[in-house]
Amino acid sequence: MKFHLQCIECKAEYSPSQIIYTCPKCGDLLDVVYEYSELMNMNLIEIWSRRMFNVWRYRELLPVLSGTPVTLYEGGTGLHLCSRLGELLNCSNIYVKNEGENPTGSFKDRGMTVGVTRAKELGSKVVICASTGNTSASLAAYAAKAGLHCIVLVPTGKIALGKLVQAIAYGAHVIQVKGNFDYALRVVRKLSSIYPLYLLNSINPYRLEGQRTLAYEVYEQLGYKVPDVVIVPVGNAGNISAIWKGFKELKQLSLADSVPRMIGVQAEGAAPLAKTLRENSSELIRVPNPETIATAIRIGAPVNWKKALRAVKESRGTIITVSDREILKAQRLLASTEGLFVEPASAASIAGLAQTMDQGLIDKGEIVVCVATGHGLKDSEVILKSNVNLVELESADEIDNFVKTLLNKHYFSNTSTPSTLGLQTAMRHSTPSSS
Ligand SMILES: Cc1ncc(COP(=O)(O)O)c(C=O)c1O
Ligand SMILES: [Zn+2]
Repeated sequence: MKFHLQCIECKAEYSPSQIIYTCPKCGDLLDVVYEYSELMNMNLIEIWSRRMFNVWRYRELLPVLSGTPVTLYEGGTGLHLCSRLGELLNCSNIYVKNEGENPTGSFKDRGMTVGVTRAKELGSKVVICASTGNTSASLAAYAAKAGLHCIVLVPTGKIALGKLVQAIAYGAHVIQVKGNFDYALRVVRKLSSIYPLYLLNSINPYRLEGQRTLAYEVYEQLGYKVPDVVIVPVGNAGNISAIWKGFKELKQLSLADSVPRMIGVQAEGAAPLAKTLRENSSELIRVPNPETIATAIRIGAPVNWKKALRAVKESRGTIITVSDREILKAQRLLASTEGLFVEPASAASIAGLAQTMDQGLIDKGEIVVCVATGHGLKDSEVILKSNVNLVELESADEIDNFVKTLLNKHYFSNTSTPSTLGLQTAMRHSTPSSS
């Protein structure tokens, strides 16, 4: 489909052949604009249904010119109905969109497949990003697939180990910087303005275009319906803006007749957008030293703040904050009730749901989609550091007692414990082959 770039503020238009990330006239963010009229006579649902369930199923709505995407088969993630969690939170229709199922374990892959495809189309040889972890892992993987060189800047000691390991394994040049993500982003923006380095942070409008596909997938997975509420963890604020654009387009294309309320969730110690919204400020109120256990959203000056605030206001949603305690509690709850292990930043959406249910911002029967942005295994240290369900026992008697206590509690609570041989006797009776 035909597209061009447009400034969100002064509305100046630019050709897709230009390598720019912000408006050369006024410096504001750019958006990709399509000529939707081309799609009006197409039966998009029928066309999509003939393709595999991944990001490129929606290629009519993606801004690429060549026919050959750089893909690792991203998207097509599960939308899990979470009834057990729903009972605990008093919400009947909770769905979790599990973005950890993507190739590098986060939603960033949806954006990178499009962004790196554009990098190739534009003739770039080296790509670069600053990252709280997931962006570096994702960009490194897609650069490897595309045969491009990749440089990533990460704040020293402030990204989860699994993500750092991913970027190294995929062959990126990893630079650790003394400073936080906001500083690293300032550096890569400057570098990409003076050298031929293609910048793939979410300020790059093409990356966000790929992330819109989450909305189209949810629409299809709910049986061609949009949810009432979508809850998204917010850091640099690109994802919430992209998802909102996707839902808005479904309405523009007459595929849906409503749009969801967008609720953004920030960590208490890194909540510039929540504060800006609360104080109704027309300028971003930055947080100079953001802090949270959810390192993926430890951001004090989100570049997409304007797009995100517009998304929240237009959709009649809001931005709330949750504490690190609430985040860790929600992470455990989701894993232990639904079998979905997500990283702390992702659990912020579940913590946010719990809070908004308590405050009465969501009705019990409304359809709610929480976006779980990244896989839990990326940050295993956070689990091992908190109080862990792990014991070490040695003798058969100790193990026997442990298991019996558990069975008494969970299984035989209403009857009596069955008499058994006990573990020690049973082991004495066993033969080597009966293991
Ligand atoms: C797991 C996870 N969740 C949420 C976010 C926030 O996304 P955005 O920066 O688009 O707001 C990030 C960003 O790095 C992330 O890695
Ligand atoms: Zn402008």
